[in-house]
Amino acid sequence: MHKYLIILVSALIMLNISGCKDVEEKENEKTNQTSNKEDQSDELILPMGSDDHSYANIAQVKTNHIHMDMNVDFESKQLKGEVRLDIENIAKTDSLILDVDNLHIQHVTLDDGSKANFKIGKRDPIFGSPMLINIKPNTKSVTIAYETDPNSKALQWLSPEQTAGKQHPYLFTQGQAILTRSWIPSQDAPALRITYSADIHVPSELMAVMSASNPRERSESGDYHFEMKQSIPAYLIALAVGDLEFRAIGERTGVYTEPKMAAASENEFADMEKMLIAAEGMYGKYKWDRYDVIVLPPSFPFGGMENPRLTFATPTILAGDKSLVSLIAHEMAHSWSGNLVTNASWDDFWLNEGFTVYFENRIMEEVYGKDYADMLMLISEQDLRKEIEELDERDTHLKLDLEDRDPDEGLTAIAYDKGAFFLKMLENAAGRERWDEFLKNYFQEHQFETITTEKFVKYLNENLIEPENLNVNIDEWIYGPGLPASHIKIMSEKFAKVDEAAEAMKNGKDLTEIAFDASDWAYQQNLHFIRSIPTDYGPDKMAEIDKAFGYSKSGNSEILAEWLVQSIRRGYDVDKETTDFLTRVGRRKFLTPIYSELIKTEEGKKRALEIYEMARPNYHAVSYITLDGMLGYEPQ
Ligand code: BES
Ligand code: ZN
Repeated sequence: MHKYLIILVSALIMLNISGCKDVEEKENEKTNQTSNKEDQSDELILPMGSDDHSYANIAQVKTNHIHMDMNVDFESKQLKGEVRLDIENIAKTDSLILDVDNLHIQHVTLDDGSKANFKIGKRDPIFGSPMLINIKPNTKSVTIAYETDPNSKALQWLSPEQTAGKQHPYLFTQGQAILTRSWIPSQDAPALRITYSADIHVPSELMAVMSASNPRERSESGDYHFEMKQSIPAYLIALAVGDLEFRAIGERTGVYTEPKMAAASENEFADMEKMLIAAEGMYGKYKWDRYDVIVLPPSFPFGGMENPRLTFATPTILAGDKSLVSLIAHEMAHSWSGNLVTNASWDDFWLNEGFTVYFENRIMEEVYGKDYADMLMLISEQDLRKEIEELDERDTHLKLDLEDRDPDEGLTAIAYDKGAFFLKMLENAAGRERWDEFLKNYFQEHQFETITTEKFVKYLNENLIEPENLNVNIDEWIYGPGLPASHIKIMSEKFAKVDEAAEAMKNGKDLTEIAFDASDWAYQQNLHFIRSIPTDYGPDKMAEIDKAFGYSKSGNSEILAEWLVQSIRRGYDVDKETTDFLTRVGRRKFLTPIYSELIKTEEGKKRALEIYEMARPNYHAVSYITLDGMLGYEPQ
């Protein structure tokens, strides 16, 4: 957004506001329990604020603290209550602009007890609407009474049948990237940090947990109080409500989940405390007091989400053999990269995810050894190369330009894997010891701050590249396309073994023998093997491989999802397994490749739509919005 345009448009808005007070007042009187979005949408069109994906005017007035008092109503699938925003009116402006999306606002009160005028602008399907509240120069807080919509994008309301226990309903939120505005009227930009507290009221047989201080036991009354005293961006506010049980793992670590999954989760995450100690050993003390994980129902749209103090995780990582715990290392690493030092905008998303994949890999190396970590990086490299082929060139730069686009479009292997390979290259150039010292200082000196790519580059130049006189080309990584030739090359004996096995398979060696030799393979090796199956293998060959390796029955979701894609591609019948997987699991990363493979043929497309029709009610908005688009599905 050009600065002059902002000034011009802002001036016009101010004129408009002072000119139409009567209309607004009447409008606000009219507003009652029911939706007010229709009567308020009369063409208040605001530009984005200083962030490309937020209307909030955080440069003029900023929220310091949010307090929520909310009832969780499973009957109507709504949160109902109020939030108080404690604000600092830096520019002594008369309007506070928030982000909202499909919220039903009842009224707004200022700290002096007066009712405030407010207006909700035109709704954009991606960004939601600006909500403009008239404040006074000395206003210290505004309180907003409202209800969420049953179709709020952040919230997923699950019926008892959609849970493991089948007895109780369940609710969870997903805020990143710009969904917090669909359950909390807020200045929803990552450049702004806030603290928060909450009083949440739930049916007394359920427990509520948040990205904050958490209960260990159910409260008799169903009332829970939460505090998050460290400042965080709004996308990290999170809530889950269900029939939950807590199991301690280490002194500072534990897991929440439904009783049915408690034992499995406790076993799977047994190394969590060790991981935390390893992480601290490298990049400084853990700053968030406790690190717990909640294992959600399988419709959770992501693998994991780094909500501070309480990572939200998919149950698809419960493989039974700890083989997928690198995901926990990843979300834990975000406690430094992302949560302590946060990307200032979604164009800088690689500062969150690239650093985190790098750090995740270091934790895995500490706890499970270099061979193991190297295999993970090789899988990363495969993902990256594949995605580079599919992306527009402009989206293969680390620094993105997502103006006017859904920040979700930045969620690619570029931010994650190119980002991590960039840092690996720097580590290699500086030497591990010097690099670790640099990174530790980086986290320390920027803690509880947000950072742009440009600011990071400056810091990198001043604190590592210049003093060490390193000969590295950082521009080709940050502003250039693809994977630069200067990336480090990873050698893995374990993957060499897989390559040999794949070669032997091609040369006609007996598959049961190959599978016998492969019985001690790590899951990454199996994944690599499945990815190495020749493209011209037909259904019969796939059936033989399946018979020898049992991939269709794998309890490892990464292996199964990859196997389904490769099988569908080769016409091998996995319809039953595919249907079962797609109706049970809502994790977008698994769904999109399977559906997109299915729709490559006419017949497959028909089948995909049949399955989707059944499965869609089990998906969170994050997943079904993507899939509706992909499948050309129009909800009735
Ligand atoms: N923060 C991300 C998830 C995310 C990113 C949600 C952007 C919404 C917008 C999380 O840390 C993540 O990366 N999860 C991955 C797992 C990880 C091991 C790569 C996932 O969900 O698959
Ligand atoms: Zn991440």
